[in-house]
Amino acid sequence: MSKYGRHFTIVGLLTIVSTFLVDRLLEGVLYFPEAASTQAGITDNLFNLHLRLISFFFSLIVVFIVYSVVVFRQRGGEEKDGDYFHGNTPLEITWTVLPIFIVIWLGILGTNDLRAMVAPQENEMTVNVIGRQWSWSFEYPDTGIQSTEMVLPKGQPVVAKMRSEDVIHSFFVPEFRVKQDIVPGHITEIRFTPTKVGTYKLRCAELCGLRHATMLADIRVVEQSEYDAWVKEQQGTGKEDAAALGAKVAQLQGCIACHSTDGSTLVGPTWKGLYGEEVELEDGTKVTADDEYLRTAIVDPNSQIVSGFLANLMPTDFGDKLSDEDINNVIAYIKSLK
Ligand code: CUA
Repeated sequence: MSKYGRHFTIVGLLTIVSTFLVDRLLEGVLYFPEAASTQAGITDNLFNLHLRLISFFFSLIVVFIVYSVVVFRQRGGEEKDGDYFHGNTPLEITWTVLPIFIVIWLGILGTNDLRAMVAPQENEMTVNVIGRQWSWSFEYPDTGIQSTEMVLPKGQPVVAKMRSEDVIHSFFVPEFRVKQDIVPGHITEIRFTPTKVGTYKLRCAELCGLRHATMLADIRVVEQSEYDAWVKEQQGTGKEDAAALGAKVAQLQGCIACHSTDGSTLVGPTWKGLYGEEVELEDGTKVTADDEYLRTAIVDPNSQIVSGFLANLMPTDFGDKLSDEDINNVIAYIKSLK
């Protein structure tokens, strides 16, 4: 063994240096977006620990191989075979038992971290999250506010109770390092505590149809005082005219995910300039887009598919979900989009 002592010392030192360099490289290449929640810190620590282990084992293997190839290569004039080895029981036991303990250790760390991430917090704030093709809306049960952006006070633990109106979606905020599927018929929960003021994007992380990629919402983390002001402002609304109320319904119900208000064509016909126009239906008949036409289009959309658009895309349950007043307000809103 002493014959190889010098080689092992050199390989050991090279492995340490290489571990450090590979780890630097990996952390530089695999950079994360800003960490903006308590959960993000936990996730990043565990991830960085894995990177360090990966760097070490990569270095251990590669340094040994490269060192052997270079130092013990066949030199000019050498003809005889190298030393013959058959097995090495202590080594084999070591490289079997050690990884088992490492994997168990990582399992324990992961379990503890997951438990910490989903643990209910004292005075957490509930926000109901509704996902649908292809938009999000949020309800604050404590204040009765409904919104299409999620506004949160910094440092406030949040529990999001999430439901879907149609297919499977997934709540994903990269800066918070949280992701949770939303399954129709279930309420799924996710917890996070935002720690940095800023605006973040909520993304749908489950392929959910034609406009999955545009299923986004803003999450605005603000100071407590700004949050209180926002709550006041939201609660102050309600004395608006029909068109303004209709615009809010259209946002909260996700209508505008498929019907633009600026003339561009999305999945459904645009609402801009629609009211009073001639509309050509699939079967070639022409109708005028009056109140009656719009009401039917909302409650029974497949009965009058506009030429050039697909049937069976629009939900057919708006007649149940919306009150007559809501529907009238939406029509007033469409009227206002000249
Ligand atoms: Cu919802 Cu993708």
